[in-house]
This record gives sequence, C-alpha cells and structure tokens, in this order.
Amino acid sequence: MSYSKPTIVSKHYASFAQRLPRQEGRTVAITGTTSGTGFVAARTAAELGARVLLLNRESTRASSSLDALRSAVPQGDFEPVVCDLQSFASVRTAAQRVHALCPSGLDVLCNNAGVMALEDVATADGFDVQMQTNHLSHFLLTKLLWPLLEQSTDARVVNHSSIARLGVKTLEARYLGKNGGSLGGNGSSMLFGGARWVRYGQTKLANAAFTAALHARTQQAGSSVKALVAHPGLANTELQVTSIREGGMGALFTGLMMRTSQSSEDGALGILSGMFLPEAESGQFWGPGASMIAMKGPAISFPLERRYDNEATRELLWAESCKAIGEDFEPSAPAA
Ligand SMILES: NC(=O)c1ccc[n+]([C@@H]2O[C@H](COP(=O)([O-])OP(=O)(O)OC[C@H]3O[C@@H](n4cnc5c(N)ncnc54)[C@H](OP(=O)(O)O)[C@@H]3O)[C@@H](O)[C@H]2O)c1
Repeated sequence: MSYSKPTIVSKHYASFAQRLPRQEGRTVAITGTTSGTGFVAARTAAELGARVLLLNRESTRASSSLDALRSAVPQGDFEPVVCDLQSFASVRTAAQRVHALCPSGLDVLCNNAGVMALEDVATADGFDVQMQTNHLSHFLLTKLLWPLLEQSTDARVVNHSSIARLGVKTLEARYLGKNGGSLGGNGSSMLFGGARWVRYGQTKLANAAFTAALHARTQQAGSSVKALVAHPGLANTELQVTSIREGGMGALFTGLMMRTSQSSEDGALGILSGMFLPEAESGQFWGPGASMIAMKGPAISFPLERRYDNEATRELLWAESCKAIGEDFEPSAPAA
C-alpha cells in the first residue's frame, strides 16, 4: 500500500502571521527548507522582509523549493547555502559561507531540519544518522555561527524538537557517541519501543536539552542571545513520507493517523513564535502544548521540563556534543 499525504487545511496560520512584526534589515538562517515547517518558516520570514539563508543539502528538492519560494515571494531575498547535516565537513563549509554572507551578523538561526525513524546506520563521521542530522550538526553549526549571533541586538537560536522527546526516559551518552550502526537495530514499532523510534526520541530530547544547556550558559555568560525550542505537534509534512519510504512507518497506519494532523503551516507556528514574536523569551518552549497529546492548535509557550533541564542532563549533552564535534563551545558574550 502506498501513502499519499491527506489534505489538511490551515486553521491558525493566517491570523498568527498577521501578528508577526516586520523583519527588514534582519537576517535569518534556517536549516531544512525544502518542505514542511522549514519551507513555511522561510516563506514567512521573506514575507516579513528578512533576508533568508536556506541551508539545505544539494538536491532537486532544494532547487525546486527555492523556485517555489521565489515565486511565492517575488521580492524575497533568498540565499541558498549548501549544508548537508550528515557531514561535519559540509556544516563547516556552510558556516564559512554564512560568515562571508553576513559580515554584520546574523539575527536568527532556526535549527529546523530533521529525519525520523531511519535505519540504524552510521554517517561518514561515525555517528547515528538521526543524531548527527537532528542534533550534532546543529550543535556544530550554532557554535560556528555564534560570533555572528553575538553581533545582533536581538539574536535567537530556535531548535525544533517533538512530542517524541517524551517517548524516552533520559538522554543517554551512547546515542551521542561514535556508535552509529550499533544502536539497537531496525525495530519500527512506534508504540512498543522500536529502536528506530528510541533513537529518534533521543534526538528530539537532545534538541530540548541543547536548548536548556544553551540557555543556562548564555545566562551565566551574560549573553543576550536567546535560546528557544519548539515542537510542531503532528504536522502534515514530508517527514512521514520519508519515514515510510525508509521502512520506519507503515503506510496504512500513517494514513489514518495523518488525517488527524495539522497543516505544515500550523505546525510552523512554534518555530515562528520563537523566531519572531517580541514576547518570546530565552528558555521557553513553544508549541501546541507540553503534553503527549498536544498534537495541534495555536502555539503557546511553556517552561523547559525538568526531565532534561537539570544539571546532569545539561552537562551530559554539552560534554558529549563537544566530544562529537571535536571542539569546545563556550557561548560567551562579546568583550565589553
Ligand atoms: N511533521 C511532524 O509531525 C513533526 C513532529 C515533530 C517534530 N517534527 C520536526 O520538525 C522538523 C521539520 O520537519 P518536517 O516535519 O517539516 O519534515 P520535512 O518536510 O521532511 O522537512 C525536513 C527537512 O529537513 C531536511 N533534511 C533532512 N536531512 C538533511 C540533511 N542531511 N541535511 C540538510 N537538511 C536535511 C530535509 O531536506 P531534504 O529535502 O534534503 O531531505 C527537509 O528540508 C524536524 O526537526 C522534525 O523532527 C516534525
């Protein structure tokens, strides 16, 4: 049986977008804009007048989505930047390109891109493909772009987590280590602890723990860069299409489940809130709610949760992520 995405009408996006302030003179970098929430975020940022850096791996999806963005926002200022999150070398090259494009600084970094329920395989760098794509490369990218963020008067780093963060108990070091390909196999049961889903849950817990640790460190350092995290509920994007193709989800179950989802526009409200709402504060979580059943609805803010916002988890996340990228990351404020 094949899967085709249902048609889901946006309910909240249009009125929400009207509340967003203009962004002329600001530069926004977003990972994973070929479809889904990243595409909506890129389009919205351009409509608000921001310059938008599109960090994607090279593909026909990247080129056709750029065409689609340019035709949706003809006056938009879009800069494609090649960035394959499965490769630290590619992230480093992308960061160099962003530095060249943004000598006056960067205002928003939205670490949006993600993959879900892929096979137990290692990247060329040796890490789990889901953990490197969803968290480790974003950690490296944030570190490399930090000096640019520090130049902005209202800089924000917005990570994209998931309800799946609640599906695993605690963050475990082995998922962040060079153990790609030996992290439990290819079990695909979403409800009964399939290893693909445990690995995905670890990545989404890592996104939240990264935010908590970054927030704590910026507060300590007196930096004004805001660290926020969002989740999209259950959003009708390409994520499920890819997971089905890679054997992580069944088409029949997914088809039934996605009829209850929200549109990709409504799913983008969480990241857009963190990126642009004036009232969004560092250390907040934005999404349709904090609970396991918060699948749709307007984005609200709620506090970071104790299960990852505790000293042991913040330290584990930071130490293992620095070890993985092979360098320290001290998010300090610029010298006075
Ligand atoms: N949809 C949901 O219900 C849901 C629920 C919870 C959380 N999320 C999170 O929302 C975020 C956005 O996902 P989405 O739902 O919008 O899915 P999507 O439509 O599949 O978009 C994912 C984006 O990530 C990009 N990406 C994947 N691997 C990459 C790599 N190696 N290098 C660079 N970019 C890469 C994809 O680009 P390519 O075209 O190159 O693959 C695509 O642009 C993810 O972090 C996901 O975990 C989604």
